[in-house]
Amino acid sequence: MRIINVVGARPNMMKMAPIVDAMSGIESVEQRLVHTGQHYDHKMSQVFFDQLGLPRPDLYLDVGSGSHAEQTARVMVAFEQVLLDQKPDLILVVGDVNSTLACAITAAKLWIPVAHVEAGLRSFDRTMPEEINRIVTDALSSYLFTTEIDANHNLQKEGISEEKIFFVGNVMIDTLYKHKTKAGSLGTYSHYGLSQGEYALLTLHRPSNVDDALILSGILDALSLIQEQIPILFPMHPRTSQRIDEFGLTKKIKDASNMHLTEPLGYLEFLDLMMNAGIMLTDSGGIQEETTILGVPCVTLRDNTERPVTIRQGTNVLVGSDPLRIVAAVEQILAGEKKQGVIPELWDGRAADRIVKILLSTR
Ligand code: UD1
Repeated sequence: MRIINVVGARPNMMKMAPIVDAMSGIESVEQRLVHTGQHYDHKMSQVFFDQLGLPRPDLYLDVGSGSHAEQTARVMVAFEQVLLDQKPDLILVVGDVNSTLACAITAAKLWIPVAHVEAGLRSFDRTMPEEINRIVTDALSSYLFTTEIDANHNLQKEGISEEKIFFVGNVMIDTLYKHKTKAGSLGTYSHYGLSQGEYALLTLHRPSNVDDALILSGILDALSLIQEQIPILFPMHPRTSQRIDEFGLTKKIKDASNMHLTEPLGYLEFLDLMMNAGIMLTDSGGIQEETTILGVPCVTLRDNTERPVTIRQGTNVLVGSDPLRIVAAVEQILAGEKKQGVIPELWDGRAADRIVKILLSTR
């Protein structure tokens, strides 16, 4: 079976690494890795290949940045040629980024079956580009691998037939377990003059938070109050630094003397920082899941989540972008009121093996 595995943006890499690993060494599988080039900076892409042991991509499509239509279209044009040349039996896509959607559409139109890993997650918020990517990718997929049981229910409600849906667990957590010990020995927090458990780690890049000047300004005000109580470490996404410059908000950051800025970090350094943080502040999808496994309180700056198990069973709370709610949630945690999470079903480090077994046994 010839399989094309696709990565495009940063959050795809940690999901793909265990799948590539599980496929390697299986004689009946010939795998190719395609990188669309949606993310291209060393710190958004190559560092993850290096640290996660991903092989060099067989094909690099070099699509780069652009509007949604431009980026998606560029991936489609380049990927169509890859499919015509390589003639795979199946393509496998992960997550919900523009590359996921673009490759799924292209393959489906050439009658090549699509496997989608992390299927069925729904925020029910179609202003999120990722939600549109999820819905369309799932509608076109032949194998829908889910991370939590709510995802199965969402797919069933959308009329997707039961035999295509497989609850396998979470490949991103496979990667976390594999690298936890190594990451935890790095002492990354000390490089920033921070102490274990006594800092907040922040990521922020969702368009709904950073593309609107008023909302972004309000969030920065909240962070400015929080850093008076606990230092904040902020590895800044390129989208966010562009917006802070554009909206003239740089002074708010400069005035917050207890907020430490860095460039986007490698997987191991970031995992180390998450494990040892007192509080996680984020609007990322994956980080809500990782902090649930690590038992670190997570304050999510969004009104909804496509990952409800992290609220129901994990350490996650949703606070939206209202500055008062953000500060109040942090104060609660600092006062010792923390959610004690449990580990969600099948988040056990073996999701990739299950996926490969299913692919081999059903073809
Ligand atoms: C994308 C994904 C999002 C994911 C996020 C993680 C979509 C719709 N969104 O959002 O789901 O959570 O990645 O990072 O696919 N840029 C660089 N260097 C890079 C990559 C991007 O400077 O290596 C800049 C681009 O110029 C662009 C901005 O960052 O202006 C945003 O990049 P883009 O890929 O459009 O979306 P993300 O916000 O990264």
